Amino acid sequence: MTAATSNPGRVEHDRIEVVHPDMVGKAAVVTGAARGMGAVFAAGLAARGVDVLGADINDEQMTATAARINAELAGSDVAKPGRVVAARVDVTSADEHEALAQRALAEFGRLDFWINNAGIFPFAEAADISPEQISAVLDVNVEGVLFGAQAAARHMRPGGAIVNMSSVSAVRVRRGRGAYCTSKAAVAHLTESLAVELGDKGIRVNSIAPGYIDTEMTRWVREDPAALAHALDVVPLHRLGSPEEVLGPLLFLLSDSARYVTGHSIAVDGGSRHV
Ligand SMILES: NC(=O)c1ccc[n+]([C@@H]2O[C@H](COP(=O)([O-])OP(=O)(O)OC[C@H]3O[C@@H](n4cnc5c(N)ncnc54)[C@H](O)[C@@H]3O)[C@@H](O)[C@H]2O)c1
Repeated sequence: MTAATSNPGRVEHDRIEVVHPDMVGKAAVVTGAARGMGAVFAAGLAARGVDVLGADINDEQMTATAARINAELAGSDVAKPGRVVAARVDVTSADEHEALAQRALAEFGRLDFWINNAGIFPFAEAADISPEQISAVLDVNVEGVLFGAQAAARHMRPGGAIVNMSSVSAVRVRRGRGAYCTSKAAVAHLTESLAVELGDKGIRVNSIAPGYIDTEMTRWVREDPAALAHALDVVPLHRLGSPEEVLGPLLFLLSDSARYVTGHSIAVDGGSRHV
């Protein structure tokens, strides 16, 4: 991996080699998979032989993303890639999560992994958060995770694994992000509750807490020179992370390497939760 000098916020990557043969032939649901980290997760899982139901509220983009990943893998040196199937879901709906689980079982005949990744990142100073804004962020970021985990738990067999996307914002307050930080703190806590209860079914539940990851969600950082300079200054590793750098920890949490790990949160933040 080498840091690009022309734009110090961006990182060019060689492929990060992460091999988990135990995942081959398994099946996953990834929400928010039309773009950003979810799309990289879908591609990374498929490259390791996992069939993926990629689901997003933006079904047009989801369909295009699934087609792109399948075409790229067909033309790659991956011997037996998994298949990425596109679906539409609004994660605020419990019923739509149930339909997603049923679809995964119909398509793949099994359900091993569920990644609750869809999220929204609204801006408002705490004094100005409107009732609509707080409801929207809690609906998508918290209820979306709960309903996803419930659907997964109904259909997974022992050995299944759920990963929820939390954030460094679960433990660090950011100005203008009160609703978002609150929602991600809830995801971190919900993950622990789910882990305790779903342990009875042999299902593990963990979360990932990314810092500044270079996606559309954080484009404003790259496009605002002052915000970028601040991020590069305060993040201990002095660069933004890439979605590929979150994929590795995700694969670890889903894999047999983590089979005694549950209720845990992995920070993937260049150390920024400490500053
Ligand atoms: N990018 C970062 O720096 C960062 C940092 C910490 C945590 N996260 C979290 O990681 C996850 C992925 O972030 P990203 O940067 O890839 O975001 P992104 O904005 O690039 O992608 C999010 C995806 O979720 C989808 N989505 C939004 N609402 C939905 C709904 N109601 N139902 C279904 N899909 C919906 C969007 O259409 C989009 O495709 C989010 O939960 C986010 O909060 C991101």
